[in-house]
Amino acid sequence: MINIALPKGRLGEKVYSLLSDAGYKCSGCDGESRKLVFRDEDAGVSYFWVKPSDVPVYVERGAADVGVAGKDILEEYTPEVYEIADLGLGRCRMCVAAKKDWYDDTSRPLRVATKFVNVAGKYYGMLGRDIEVIKLNGSIELAPILGMSDVIVDIVETGTTLKENDLKIFSEIFPVSARLIVNKASYKFRNTQISNLANKLSDEVKNDKTRNL
Ligand code: PRP
Repeated sequence: MINIALPKGRLGEKVYSLLSDAGYKCSGCDGESRKLVFRDEDAGVSYFWVKPSDVPVYVERGAADVGVAGKDILEEYTPEVYEIADLGLGRCRMCVAAKKDWYDDTSRPLRVATKFVNVAGKYYGMLGRDIEVIKLNGSIELAPILGMSDVIVDIVETGTTLKENDLKIFSEIFPVSARLIVNKASYKFRNTQISNLANKLSDEVKNDKTRNL
């Protein structure tokens, strides 16, 4: 049995559909149920649905052998896991955005609103720019609109949220997509099952790309 931690929400649904296409179905898993663990003896898998930012915690501690997490989450929490495949799903970009007329007043620390405090710290550290981090948990775009921050560091997918709030991208920090991550001990002791899963998923990703051409 391989234990798989899946991120709840839109990305998780896409990932589950990829897993099903690759032969790792789990009956009842995609329904409306409030159940948290689904086992399928025939497919040899057990799924947990968890908060996206918690996926690396379950995998790092071995409660899950594998999981799927966005590159944004992995860059923020830098868990001790192996990242073995890019699933190409949930593509977006980690960006710096601000009001359209913003300019950088370098005589004072930059106020940065974000959920990704480590990503922001690393990025501005690299640039040698002093910042004051304002940690928020959602609706980050409000901060510059209300004058609480100068910029935001956040993920941009379609760009609609920025556009509808008169904000724009000033720099792109890195591209984001969903990654297959593996517990280090599981990778050693369940290598055959995990490699099979990774290969089948990678084949499905390639098939999907071909289908989309
Ligand atoms: C994310 C992100 C942006 C938005 C970007 O928020 O924080 O707000 O999506 O998507 P877009 O470029 O397609 O408009 P999410 O929907 O996860 O909600 P949150 O504000 O609660 O973080």
